[in-house]
Amino acid sequence: MTTSDTQAKPSSLVPESPRLAEIVEEVRRFGVDLIERHRITTDEWMQALLFLCELGGRNEMVALSDVLRLSVPVDRVTNADQEELTPSNVEGPFWLPDAPLLETPASLCGADEPGEHVVLRGRVLSADAAPVPHAIVDIWQTNSEGKYDLELGGPTAVEMAFRARVRADSDGRYEIGTVLPKAYSIPTDGPLGILLRKIGRHPYRPAHFHIRIEAEGRDPLTTMLYLRDDPWLDVDVIDSIKDSLLVEPRDGAIEFDFVLAA
Ligand SMILES: [Fe+2]
Repeated sequence: MTTSDTQAKPSSLVPESPRLAEIVEEVRRFGVDLIERHRITTDEWMQALLFLCELGGRNEMVALSDVLRLSVPVDRVTNADQEELTPSNVEGPFWLPDAPLLETPASLCGADEPGEHVVLRGRVLSADAAPVPHAIVDIWQTNSEGKYDLELGGPTAVEMAFRARVRADSDGRYEIGTVLPKAYSIPTDGPLGILLRKIGRHPYRPAHFHIRIEAEGRDPLTTMLYLRDDPWLDVDVIDSIKDSLLVEPRDGAIEFDFVLAA
């Protein structure tokens, strides 16, 4: 090492990512302000760091982002071009690749399935109102008890339930028979559950359908549809409700057109 090396000052280093450097510095300044305003002690700080380690071990970092209500703003910024069309929304932890591929009209369950049966139907359109032929409507939802298949012993091909990729027809029309999903609690048996209890937050999400639209030559659209009369709408733990994504059954059917950015 030369004399000049030892005298080099860290501030003279050129960041590989100026954007990241700027954001990290802003987070650091925000952290210092928070520590000083709340007089955060070493014990409290170490508890916070231990909490983050435990979250990582439980694979709950995305869930933390969700309940801190940061995932939805990130999604909104990322997919700003969809906001005036069919707004995008967060994917959540329950999507699976390779759900059964079905032709429209399709059904996610049999006639004897418990719950309120409904047909979800509409069209997949582009921003100029032209149909998007043969778009794939990938849908996943809870059963009428608020449980995903992954919480009931999945995932294998046999155990997949209430999820499918439904291919729309040449006019972009899709039709999916199912039952209404139910509001549910996000998992609370780990460190995130402890945090929610400590800060007095409930863990509930209003009932929703998860939808991912795929069409050739376009970016996929991931979103959610919510039932308009759900009592948890105003207090969704991840604060993801968007008015234009509210739906309600009429005469056993929910009509919804998905409009994709060009
Ligand atoms: Fe969900």
